Amino acid sequence: MKPKIILAIETSCDDTSIAAVKCSGSLTNPKFEVLKNIVSSQIKIHRPFGGVVPNLAKREHIKNLPKILKLISKDFDVKKIDYIAVTVGPGLEPALWTGISFAQELAAKLKKPLVGVNHMEGHLYSNWLAPAKNFKNLFPAISIVVSGGHTMLLLMQSAVKWKKLGETIDDAAGEAFDKVARMLELPYPGGPEIEKAALRGNSVAVKFPRPLLSSPKNPQKNYDFSFSGLKTSVLYYIRDHFNEKDLRNFKDDIAASFQQAVIDVLTQKTLSAAKQFKTKSVMLSGGVSANKTLREIMRHAVEQSGKKFFAPSFEFNTDNAAMIAAAAYFDLLQKKPSLKFEADSNLTI
Ligand code: KG4
Ligand code: ZN
Repeated sequence: MKPKIILAIETSCDDTSIAAVKCSGSLTNPKFEVLKNIVSSQIKIHRPFGGVVPNLAKREHIKNLPKILKLISKDFDVKKIDYIAVTVGPGLEPALWTGISFAQELAAKLKKPLVGVNHMEGHLYSNWLAPAKNFKNLFPAISIVVSGGHTMLLLMQSAVKWKKLGETIDDAAGEAFDKVARMLELPYPGGPEIEKAALRGNSVAVKFPRPLLSSPKNPQKNYDFSFSGLKTSVLYYIRDHFNEKDLRNFKDDIAASFQQAVIDVLTQKTLSAAKQFKTKSVMLSGGVSANKTLREIMRHAVEQSGKKFFAPSFEFNTDNAAMIAAAAYFDLLQKKPSLKFEADSNLTI
């Protein structure tokens, strides 16, 4: 296939993003050149509410999309694109619809074909976006996707063939970060705040549980995750040990101990799957992969076991449209029929 320029639109949660990506190469050796990737964050709008308010997200997306497109058009001729890609799910329904409607209008105006993309596949393929990565000899691979809404472990036989080994049975890892941050009176989104506090704290100060981790006593391989109990342990710990005044002195230790529990679970399950299935590499992605402590601990463990480790460059960890363009290109290479242009908040991978 000749190189294609894909203009992608992402509005599944609280980031409005449009990207233009030049995509070329085959399924085994694809290349992505990110020409533009603009992300407009709505953190300030949602912060007073302690989380994302779907209708406010919708309002902001409607406001931001034309502004971002205008910015992109300044130094890039949008008439030169080959395809328009848009996230159709999973995500917040009102937010998803704004991107879909915008993409449909643009596709009609520019007379370009439209591709519907799964947001989780976007995260999965965000690992292919970084420049200068050697993607030869990667498979089989374990891919762990950790975001605000999902935590899943995949066994990938190739870039487009995979099997889900496990996923969260309750809260996603990012959701647990956000909820624990709220308990510690840290602002939304909680992940980066917990990471900052954890750098000042002691990660062995409190021994929080490591849910669903196999142990010599319980050796059964289980690749599902559960973070709800861990979150409740933090809540009870705070309730039982401190009054409000004291909490200030222990926030950092609680944040570090909680973060370590999440990292231990994610890293050990990933490594155990990589060993069981004798994979050549491990790929980490999703918003939580922005956590440097997690990346470094997982990288170290994976490399120690003789496997390659990949995580996206920082601009592609949290939601962005460049990863949606990459996922669309993989769909096009496979000649997959496009997903329906209807918001599907529960779309699975
Ligand atoms: O992938 P993403 O941008 O959106 C979803 O698809 O959900 O992930 C957002 C999640 C939030 O829960 C946020 O707290 C978490 O990723 N996150 C982090 C960090 N940066 C973002 N979690 C831990 N450490 C971080 N540095
Ligand atoms: Zn996401």
